[in-house]
Amino acid sequence: MHILVTGGAGFIGSNLVHFLLEHRPDCHLTVLDSLTYAGCRQNLARWEGDPRFRFVEGSITDPQAVDLAMQGARTCLHLAAETHVDRSIHDGAQFIATNVGGTQVLLDGARRHELERFVLVSTDEVYGSIPEGSFLETDPLCPSSPYSASKAGADLLALAHHHTYGTPVLITRCTNNFGPYQYPEKLIPFFLSQAMQGHELPVYGDGLQVRDWIDVEDHCEALLQVLEKGSPGEVYNVGAGHEVTNLEITQTLLDLLGKPQSLIRHVQDRPGHDRRYSVDTTRLRALGWKPRHEFRETLERTVDWYRRNQAWWEDLRRKREEYQKFYEQQYAGRLGGG
Ligand SMILES: NC(=O)c1ccc[n+]([C@@H]2O[C@H](COP(=O)([O-])OP(=O)(O)OC[C@H]3O[C@@H](n4cnc5c(N)ncnc54)[C@H](O)[C@@H]3O)[C@@H](O)[C@H]2O)c1
Repeated sequence: MHILVTGGAGFIGSNLVHFLLEHRPDCHLTVLDSLTYAGCRQNLARWEGDPRFRFVEGSITDPQAVDLAMQGARTCLHLAAETHVDRSIHDGAQFIATNVGGTQVLLDGARRHELERFVLVSTDEVYGSIPEGSFLETDPLCPSSPYSASKAGADLLALAHHHTYGTPVLITRCTNNFGPYQYPEKLIPFFLSQAMQGHELPVYGDGLQVRDWIDVEDHCEALLQVLEKGSPGEVYNVGAGHEVTNLEITQTLLDLLGKPQSLIRHVQDRPGHDRRYSVDTTRLRALGWKPRHEFRETLERTVDWYRRNQAWWEDLRRKREEYQKFYEQQYAGRLGGG
């Protein structure tokens, strides 16, 4: 099996590369990644030189790079994307170019190269907010942010390619992931890095927004199940069913670090902030998947990873101009330190 993984140098992508090469020793992987601010080739350093692993630096929006990366591949797990909601609110253009435009280029490539399976990693955010109950895969999409709208565009485009050309597309819509290698602008690593440096933790609004959290490794296992056992043209929700408010997670992180709750600072809510996400995962479970990890155990392991890998996130926070620009734009004037 030769799989193309797009976005393999990012958070979920690098965890997925580790997972696949460890659990499918006979598989070959090509990673296509343009190494944006969120991509870190060092995340994959342990596989450099392994004959099963190939890295192509290039953009999914570039048909030539896509052709090169697809050579020899029989399937594709497509994760490459612009992923941060706050950034999409400041400027959505790159989100459309990468998430919609790049997906179109990949889908065309999948047809040219006659791939046997093309898994698009979408998100639960495409459904929008739900006050109670859980979304089914057949529910309409109602995205609220430029990020989730661009993901919904990619999701629908992929389904249209299945419908029109018979491209063997499968879609996954997953909830919030957590674990190692997550860029320190997303809630858990951002708050961990803030707290470890003694800075305040900016909680949006009342902090009572509910998210369903899944261990990134459980998500990787779900992607492998969908790739190997899913039906083309189908959508699969992915989630562990562990709902927590942002405030509760923030308080727990501070407890685990032994830091005071007084570091919490409520700031103005994110515009258009969805209140609650929840998905029904019956369809995926029928393929034989279930989450293996407990929320608390993963959270403790994640805190431990960020403690042991301080140099990794400090480097991203301190040296990368991109991060500084974003941080100042997002939090300037709201926080004491930073
Ligand atoms: N993180 C989550 O909780 C979550 C939940 C559900 C779905 N998803 C989806 O999973 C995928 C991966 O998310 P993540 O959190 O790992 O993201 P991430 O931001 O950590 O990584 C994205 C990766 O894509 C690469 N990339 C960006 N633009 C590219 C381009 N034009 N060409 C090639 N590579 C490019 C980046 O360099 C980076 O390595 C995304 O599609 C995201 O929408 C994420």
